[in-house]
Amino acid sequence: MQILTTAAGLQAYTEQARQAGQRVGLVPTMGALHDGHLQLVQAARSECDEVIASIFVNPTQFNNAEDFRLYPRVPEADAALLIPAGCTALFVPSVAEMYPQPTVLRFDFGALERVMEGAHRPGHFNGVATVVSKLFHMARPHRAYFGQKDWQQVAVIRQLVADLSFDLEILACPTIREADGLAMSSRNRRLDPASRAAAPLLHKVLAAAAEQVRQGVPPAQVRAEAEAALTREPLVTPEYFEVADAQTLQPLEAYVAGRAVVLCLAAHLGGVRLIDNVVVEA
Ligand code: PAJ
Repeated sequence: MQILTTAAGLQAYTEQARQAGQRVGLVPTMGALHDGHLQLVQAARSECDEVIASIFVNPTQFNNAEDFRLYPRVPEADAALLIPAGCTALFVPSVAEMYPQPTVLRFDFGALERVMEGAHRPGHFNGVATVVSKLFHMARPHRAYFGQKDWQQVAVIRQLVADLSFDLEILACPTIREADGLAMSSRNRRLDPASRAAAPLLHKVLAAAAEQVRQGVPPAQVRAEAEAALTREPLVTPEYFEVADAQTLQPLEAYVAGRAVVLCLAAHLGGVRLIDNVVVEA
């Protein structure tokens, strides 16, 4: 596995691959890798000739300085996981390499980012769109792989690709969970034992709410009961629980025939903020 640290190095590497007729897959990450990340690498491996993973804890997408400071960074362990997963090149730039000057460009994704993560983390999707655009320009991949664990992020990136005519395909892979249902996340490493023991409640509440949606229980009642179930656990502080249209992400007051529903939540456990979602197909 080739290690690349500069934009020019990444550009040259993927340009050569393209010239040789190879298909380039890109897997952007912030590291502290787990099976959720590795399935993206494996999916890329099965569909592309070159698999570029990036690890960059992107400062511009953190709206909380403490969250950025405490974000787990384990570069050696990450590299050891990427090689057997089939990664051919790892891009690990410095902050100065990615941001040689402060960015002033601002993205606005309209209604898509006025809800959930966009509403609760001001500037978050601006930072995501900025860094993902840079990575797309540097690597010029044929395909880029993202996880449905971050459902709203995938929607924002699809909008970005459409609006800016990026010549690539976005692939979204399913959420990988621990045996007890907790969605894998780099931030899970920061959970103390009591919070870790309480954390499967998040998926349990989502699964119960999904069942209610299938039975036609009105969105307002699903929302209220889910919030109540989360609040009953003293170690969990819910931030939001939303019942939304899976495509537009707008909160629902009533179900619309033929349209999928996404249930999304954010909650704090012992100082760690976690998100999760489940989709109920139409
Ligand atoms: P990060 O949180 O490291 O996630 C990298 C990719 O892995 C994202 O596409 C995310 O959705 C996916 N992922 C994380 N946990 C997953 C799980 N349990 N199952 C499936 N996929 C999972 O998301 C980011 O980084 C950043 O915002 C980034 C896109 C790299 C831009 O900085």
